[in-house]
Amino acid sequence: MISKKMEAALNEQIAVEAGAHFTYLSMATWADAQGLEGTANFFFQHAAEEHEHMMKIVHFIGEVGGRALVPAIKKPEEQYKDVLDACEKAYAHEQQVSTSIYKLVTLAREENDYVADEFLRWFIDEQREEEVLFMRIMDRIKLIGTGGQSLYYIDKELARAHAEAEAAEAAEGEA
Ligand SMILES: [Fe+2]
Ligand SMILES: [Fe+2]
Repeated sequence: MISKKMEAALNEQIAVEAGAHFTYLSMATWADAQGLEGTANFFFQHAAEEHEHMMKIVHFIGEVGGRALVPAIKKPEEQYKDVLDACEKAYAHEQQVSTSIYKLVTLAREENDYVADEFLRWFIDEQREEEVLFMRIMDRIKLIGTGGQSLYYIDKELARAHAEAEAAEAAEGEA
C-alpha cells in the first residue's frame, strides 16, 4: 500500500506530465501553422509520449492501492519565436521534469518505498534520453544557422529526429 505522501507526490507528477503533453501539443500546432511539417510531427509525437508517461503513473498509483487524480492544467504558451526558441523551452522544461523525478526518487527512498523507487527508474532513463535529444537538436539548429534556407533544413532535421524516435519505439515494441 502506497503512503499518502508518496501518492500525493505521484499525483503532482501526473500534473507535470500532463503539462508537458499540453506544452508539446502547443509547439506542434504552432509548427503546423507555420508549415513546418517535420517539426510539427516531431512535437506531436513528443506530446503523445508525455501522455504515455502520465498514464504510466496513473496506472501505477492504481496498482499500489492509491487513487490517481485528474489535474487542472495550465494553458501553455502559444507563440514561439522560432524552432530554436521552442526547443530551448522544451529543453528547459525537460530539465525541470528531471528535477521533479529526482525529488520523487528521494521521497520513495525516505519512505522505504522500494516499489516506487524501482518504478521511477524508467523515468530517470527517459529523462536522460530526452535531455540528450533536445541538446543535440539545439546544436544542429545552431550549426544550420538562421540564413534564408535554414528553416527548410531545420524542419528536415526535426523530421529525421521524428523518424528515429518512431523507429526506436517500434524496436522497443518488438523487444
Ligand atoms: Fe515525461
Ligand atoms: Fe519529456
